[in-house]
Order: sequence, then C-alpha cells, then structure tokens
Amino acid sequence: MFGIYPGSFDPLTYGHIDVIERALRIFGRLVVAVAHNPEKQPWFSLEERVRMLRKATEGMQGVEVDSFRGLLVDYARKRGATVIVRGLRALSDFDYEFQMALTNRKICCDIETVFLMPSEQFSYLSSRMIKEIVALGGEVGAFVPEFVAAMLRERRPLSPR
Ligand code: PNS
Repeated sequence: MFGIYPGSFDPLTYGHIDVIERALRIFGRLVVAVAHNPEKQPWFSLEERVRMLRKATEGMQGVEVDSFRGLLVDYARKRGATVIVRGLRALSDFDYEFQMALTNRKICCDIETVFLMPSEQFSYLSSRMIKEIVALGGEVGAFVPEFVAAMLRERRPLSPR
C-alpha cells in the first residue's frame, strides 16, 4: 500500500516536507503529485514545481515525485493508490479538506483520504502567504528551503508603479 500526496506546491514549504516525512513513516512509499490546476495562476510551472520537489526530496527513500492533470481520483486509480494524504494545519483547513475528501469518496468510493498534522512550528505556514511576503520584499528563508527562497526572489512580480 502506498499513499499519494497531492497539492499545488506553489511553492513547496517546510510544512509540506514535514508532511512528506510523516507520511513516509506510515506508508514507506509515497507519490508526491503536483497538480495542474488551470483555475489557479501559479508562480511556478508544473515542471518547475516538480523539479522543486525532486530536489527537496532527493535522498528520501520511497518518495516519487510526479504530476497530474484532471481528477485526482482518476490519477490515484491509474497509479493503483488507495490512500490520499493531506496535511491538516488548523481548523481553518477543515471545511475545504472535509468537502474535498467527501467529494472524492463519493466519486470514487475505494480511495480513502487520511490527514496528517504537520509539526506545530509549521501549522501557520501557507504557500499563499509566502508569496505575499516575497511580493512585498520580505524574507522567507525560515519557511522554505534556501533554493526555493532564491527561486521565489527571482520570480517576484514587479511592484506596481
Ligand atoms: O495544495 P492545494 O492547492 O490545496 O491542492 C489542492 C488539490 C490539487 C489537491 C485539489 O485541487 C485537487 O485534487 N485538484 C485536482 C482536481 C480534482 O480532482 N478536483 C476535485 C477535488 S474534490
């Protein structure tokens, strides 16, 4: 049995890495699946996010990084996975995660979602806030690996004139 850990990872944070490490302790094998989400406008392309995750997880036994388009449950089925892993940081995540897990269960009843709590030191972290900090010229070295911080600085949108 192995798990699929899907997400946007735009960008990857220490919170995501923490969830990957926890999931690996349970499943032994984990596919980290970067989603192509046409509704979101990511800072990084799918390929860049996959590269980011590969670099951050190199040396971690049992991790595979992949990407997918379309429905997550279709991808999970195609890969032969029966468990979806999601991180649950705080109560504020619950509504969205609950809705997503139950919808996925309704459309594909043989796949379960399990939630893992990242360490409390990462429980407030979000990719959205990290991008906001970078966009406003702040430092994010405490939240993401240094190479990700460098990629973010390079991608920083120009401030409006
Ligand atoms: O990191 P995110 O943005 O919270 O991840 C959300 C993600 C990618 C897991 C979710 O949007 C997803 O599964 N997208 C694929 C399309 C899909 O299956 N949608 C139905 C989910 S109920």
